[in-house]
Amino acid sequence: MNNANTPTEDYQFLIKQAIKAPSGHNTQPWIFKINEEKIEISPDFKRSLPVVDPDNRELFISLGCATENLCIAASLKGYTPQVNTTKDGHIFIKLETDKQIKPSPLAEQISIRQTNRSLYSGKVIPDTILDELKETELDAGVGIHFYAKGTKEFDSISNFVVKGNTLQMQDEAFREELKSWMRFNKKHQDRTNDGLSYAVFGAPNLPLFIVKPIISSFLNAEKQNKGDIKKMQSSSHFVLFTTQDNTQEQWINLGRSLERFLLKSTQSGISHAYLNQPNEIKELSVEMTKALNLSEYPTIILRLGYGERQPYSKRIEI
Ligand SMILES: Cc1cc2nc3c(=O)[nH]c(=O)nc-3n(C[C@H](O)[C@H](O)[C@H](O)COP(=O)(O)O)c2cc1C
Repeated sequence: MNNANTPTEDYQFLIKQAIKAPSGHNTQPWIFKINEEKIEISPDFKRSLPVVDPDNRELFISLGCATENLCIAASLKGYTPQVNTTKDGHIFIKLETDKQIKPSPLAEQISIRQTNRSLYSGKVIPDTILDELKETELDAGVGIHFYAKGTKEFDSISNFVVKGNTLQMQDEAFREELKSWMRFNKKHQDRTNDGLSYAVFGAPNLPLFIVKPIISSFLNAEKQNKGDIKKMQSSSHFVLFTTQDNTQEQWINLGRSLERFLLKSTQSGISHAYLNQPNEIKELSVEMTKALNLSEYPTIILRLGYGERQPYSKRIEI
């Protein structure tokens, strides 16, 4: 490995790769610290989502995704990562120089991956690709389930998403929290470099006083469900990630496995988007566990398929 950089330059590069990870509402709830041969990733609770994510489960999944990006990118700079997590959710990644390490083929997917909320083409993912995705290495306590369109389980999940939208959109606190993370035009987006950008929802770049009421008017159950039903029907599969024990350690593990899975699907030209509503509402998640005959905790739902590339979400430079 030919690497003329100093460790600090390498670590800065690795952090730049880590922050390309997905996070709930694009809150980017992470703090990075470099010390000696380690990079520390800590939760930034100022960026938590108390209404939709009161236990910080999705926050710790996001930290897991960032950790995995960092570990995959470390192979490009000739380091083997060793990850240790403390009980209070701090993640320490020790980087050991390793002359034998080969660059991970997933590293180049880090900048290409994106959440794609568009309508997909309806094309079914071939079994050869599904078989590869099913082989994604999973961390301790993490499970993965695939449900093809046309099965009763797929329809059952779709119904839970609809119920989830209905409950969330009736909840004023949910709508207010969501709105507070929406970035309504380019100026607004460029000011914060976080949150859910108008561009990723396909909205035009218009003055705030015009666009804010238009986008806000879409935050109701009827419109949300109409759009989501079409989007689910345009997809090929749902993928459900679960954890055995619903603990902080397993949420971080799930994030790592999820990111690996997302990079692998990106590499195969598969688009993904989240439909996490049923996991975010306790009663629905209990009902869904029974309906799908699961023995674990349903945690992340993705839809997979083929979509046109969308604008990218911004990141806060670190
Ligand atoms: C744990 C977690 C939960 C998420 N839940 C949702 C969701 O329910 N709906 C949605 O549209 N996006 C969801 N997202 C996607 C984020 O909004 C997305 O990652 C963020 O806006 C950054 O965009 P990017 O993934 O394209 O980089 C979730 C992401 C994570 C990591």
